[in-house]
Amino acid sequence: MRAHEHGQAEMDEDVMVDKARFELATSSLRTKRSTGLIYLPTSGDTAIDNRDINSSSLQPPASVQLLIAHAIGATMDYRQFIGRNVVSIKDLTKDEVECLLDLAERMIPYAKGEKRTKTLDGKIIANLFFEPSTRTRLSFESAAHRLGAQILDVSQMSATSIAKGETLADTIRMVDAYCDAIVMRHPYEGAARLATKYAKSPVINAGDGAASHPTQTLLDLFTIRNCKGKIDGLNITLVGDLKYGRTVHSLVDALMMYDVKLTFVAPDSLQMPADIVENLRNHGYDPRITSDLGEVIKDSDVLYVTRIQKERFPDPAEYKKVAGTYRIDKLALLEAKSDVIVMHPLPRVDEISTDIDGTPNAKYFEQAFNGIPVRMALLCAVLGGEI
Ligand code: NCD
Repeated sequence: MRAHEHGQAEMDEDVMVDKARFELATSSLRTKRSTGLIYLPTSGDTAIDNRDINSSSLQPPASVQLLIAHAIGATMDYRQFIGRNVVSIKDLTKDEVECLLDLAERMIPYAKGEKRTKTLDGKIIANLFFEPSTRTRLSFESAAHRLGAQILDVSQMSATSIAKGETLADTIRMVDAYCDAIVMRHPYEGAARLATKYAKSPVINAGDGAASHPTQTLLDLFTIRNCKGKIDGLNITLVGDLKYGRTVHSLVDALMMYDVKLTFVAPDSLQMPADIVENLRNHGYDPRITSDLGEVIKDSDVLYVTRIQKERFPDPAEYKKVAGTYRIDKLALLEAKSDVIVMHPLPRVDEISTDIDGTPNAKYFEQAFNGIPVRMALLCAVLGGEI
């Protein structure tokens, strides 16, 4: 039984967010993910058309901007993103993804501080983080500063009314009144989609439980495209925690827009969820599924390695059984193509040895940097900046 069959509307108002409830929510989420019972809507389920939500009073409506873009012959214009929510990568078409990646390319000199812009001067972006984050939160913050916008940092939840038992719905309504865009990370699947119901400003999902992480996916695609010169035709191997890792779930959704070969390497208990594999098969993909990295490493063009998501395990003993299963080191890379690229959303624990950090194969720090131009592109696009 899926979320909306549980009387979603009544439950939305009841979503309480404090530390104790986080624990509860995360543990119920774990059970629910493994049984297919999720009481908040997953990104694919909802009928909300986020393209209708428009926040910028200073810009003509997106529909007018789009008409202008068509009138001048532009096929895809980043101005069409004004006011859009980005909750799932599935909210975007392939052309839209490519349009954002092209804009990210143009952001690189600004991201490095070689060029300056104040295009989002006067805009306020709320960073609403209900779960720990280093790269995502800081790169959004850096991206906002590079564009001239201001950041409201709401990551110390204990210092807010959330600690007094405020509902997520009320928190979103309030934060929405104080800013022009909301970047949100939350341990519940579907929390970002829920936020779009209460916010007039665009909501950008910075990770919701084990479900999705669309901005990470954009920067992953950007990294693959830049390092390999293309995405089509590649053999992409995802390694590690494919069950609880939201980055790999979103990445698979996005890679279904391309002509790629997918390989999933994980311990049996952490393999890619069956619904995702089935969806791939229904779309003509035939992923290779194995627990043996040695068997497939030689065929891979991209090794996308992930951390085992300790915090999402219902039982710590289960985590101990799989911790340290895979480790990519110089020895392992001897078996791989000489130009294989090794990616990781970070943070790493022990799944990538530091002995490959200095090799041309290691791309994870470059990938982390790419979070800045990609998030600049997204913020600029949804907030009506001009580059
Ligand atoms: C990832 C996340 O939060 O899902 N980190 C990130 O955003 N770069 C991956 C992880 O925590 O393992």
